[in-house]
Amino acid sequence: MMRLVVLISGQGSNLQAIIDACILGQLKAQVVLVISNQATAYGLIRAHKHRISCQVVEVLTKQKRQDYDIALANKVAAAKPDCIVLAGFMRILSSEFIQRFPSKIINIHPALPGTFPGTKAIKRAFLAFSRQEISETGVMIHRVIDEGIDSGPVLAQKKVAIYSNDTIISLSKRIHDAEHRLIISVLQQLESGLCPMPYCLSTTKAD
Ligand code: GRF
Repeated sequence: MMRLVVLISGQGSNLQAIIDACILGQLKAQVVLVISNQATAYGLIRAHKHRISCQVVEVLTKQKRQDYDIALANKVAAAKPDCIVLAGFMRILSSEFIQRFPSKIINIHPALPGTFPGTKAIKRAFLAFSRQEISETGVMIHRVIDEGIDSGPVLAQKKVAIYSNDTIISLSKRIHDAEHRLIISVLQQLESGLCPMPYCLSTTKAD
């Protein structure tokens, strides 16, 4: 059984996709710990419902980033993860965290590699489409090997079409659906040892 630690900050729909895949046997994995940096993250409720151990690790007043990351890494390490999934975890992790788990950290980004790094990627893609700067967008899963934002060796990517009658809501739904499928596909590859470092690249067409 692959031991997964999932870090979240919000909705936790990707966390839910992972939990569901474990329950359905699509993944031979177990979410052993969920950590949120936000006490109000809805993903914590999802974890509770499935009796998954979860913790809130908030930034303390005047706490330095490195100190937060060391505290976070200690909690993650105690769960002995095989893989750490950043599923909407809205903090940049410093090397104090990353170097503790070489090759174990993966991140979900709701855009194609090299595009729209950082927050509000879907909205920025939608606006770029309306300015006719792009014709499609996508999602990707990549390894986290340094402090780069939404960069790192790409494990998988999937194009997502944008239609002229799309709204930000319809596009967001299509992107989230795509990332829910892609994270499971990547975790399946990781659990069967098909996705070794430095990286493997799988590109697929838009739905
Ligand atoms: C996802 O779009 C993910 O790609 C991005 O943050 C969002 C988290 O969504 N990094 P959720 O919390 O999993 O619903």
